[in-house]
Amino acid sequence: MQTRSLNQILEGRRSQPNQLIEVLQDVQKNYGYISEETMQSVSHSLGVPLIEVYRVASFYKAFRLNPSGKNVLTMCMGTACHVRGARLLVDQATCQLGVKTGEVTQDGLFSVEHVNCLGACALGPIVTENGSYYHHMTPGKLRKLIETLSHREKKDNQDANKNVQA
Ligand code: FES
Repeated sequence: MQTRSLNQILEGRRSQPNQLIEVLQDVQKNYGYISEETMQSVSHSLGVPLIEVYRVASFYKAFRLNPSGKNVLTMCMGTACHVRGARLLVDQATCQLGVKTGEVTQDGLFSVEHVNCLGACALGPIVTENGSYYHHMTPGKLRKLIETLSHREKKDNQDANKNVQA
């Protein structure tokens, strides 16, 4: 994911506090999350108090303060999805993977998140996996999706190991 260094992101923006959101957007895009060390560097470089950098980074849902899993399962918990059983989907994913929402599995392969509405209410309940939409989800369908993704990850790892040994 990382294609630019923090120095490259900050280039031409130092001592410009009004660039804070743009810089944080680029950091998020580049690293997948905004670490505490990065916030300190951004604070120092732009001349914005660290507390303000943290306030902005933690306010917007688009910014993550921790790394996510390789596969991000996002449950829509908006009203339309909620009344159609979204809570059961969260329970399915968190129990099957052994994590709470917002956490990453120990192997780093999955994280479970929720949002308030994905804008496709008539098709709910909706789950997304790394941007792919799954509509009219049920706990059974979600269990199979997680199993499929897990098998794919295991196969990819085995293939990678074979290539290393060859
Ligand atoms: S409430 Fe789930 S898509 Fe709108």
